[in-house]
Amino acid sequence: MKIKTAEFIVSNTDYKLCPKETLAEYAFIGRSNVGKSSLINAIANQKELAKTSGKPGKTQLINHFKINNNWFLVDLPGYGYAATSKIKREEFKSMINKYLTNRKNLMCLFVLLDIRHKPQTIDLEFMQKMGKEQIPFVMVFTKTDKLSQTQVWKNLKKYKIEMLKKWEFTPDIFITSSEKKTGIKDILNFIETHNKSFDPTFCQ
Ligand code: GTP
Ligand code: MG
Repeated sequence: MKIKTAEFIVSNTDYKLCPKETLAEYAFIGRSNVGKSSLINAIANQKELAKTSGKPGKTQLINHFKINNNWFLVDLPGYGYAATSKIKREEFKSMINKYLTNRKNLMCLFVLLDIRHKPQTIDLEFMQKMGKEQIPFVMVFTKTDKLSQTQVWKNLKKYKIEMLKKWEFTPDIFITSSEKKTGIKDILNFIETHNKSFDPTFCQ
């Protein structure tokens, strides 16, 4: 799929104020600084559509971007951001949970994981929860340009082993680098396929 247009639509704290559920949408989640906003920019083929930062905690709202006038990319705040207050963390958590459990046009959630780290409890627990809530998700490993290919495969294997302790099979996996644009085509193909099965009448 070619990206022809990518535009910012709206930022919200409340899922109820998000755009009408008439188009398929794909949201990006993961720990702060994992590379959600950067990956959205790489997919949309734009430098500054979503705001990125070297410091964690940059994205604090539910941000909708419309692609090709036909589907939405959604940038979410990171979870587990330690440098914010406990109250703020709970607010983010509740905002994200409500969005994830109520948004009927959410075709798939992309759960981002930094390939450099070994499996982290916070991410494993988050994916468990998505499984329980029956929210479809895939795993996206980010920042693969920062490791050698051998190390990427080693870390990936560790993750698969950890996932298979709780799951019968691992969800779909994407291996990406926003820096080098690795894995972007695969994600776009995945989205293109899912767009075809989107039925807006199901969301009414
Ligand atoms: P929050 O909005 O704070 O939750 O962070 P985020 O997950 O949106 O991360 P963001 O995209 O802002 O990226 C965080 C930092 O990681 C920035 O300095 C990016 O330049 C860097 N980064 C993101 N993706 C990549 C990548 O694929 N490779 C490299 N080398 N750096 C990356
Ligand atoms: Mg961000």
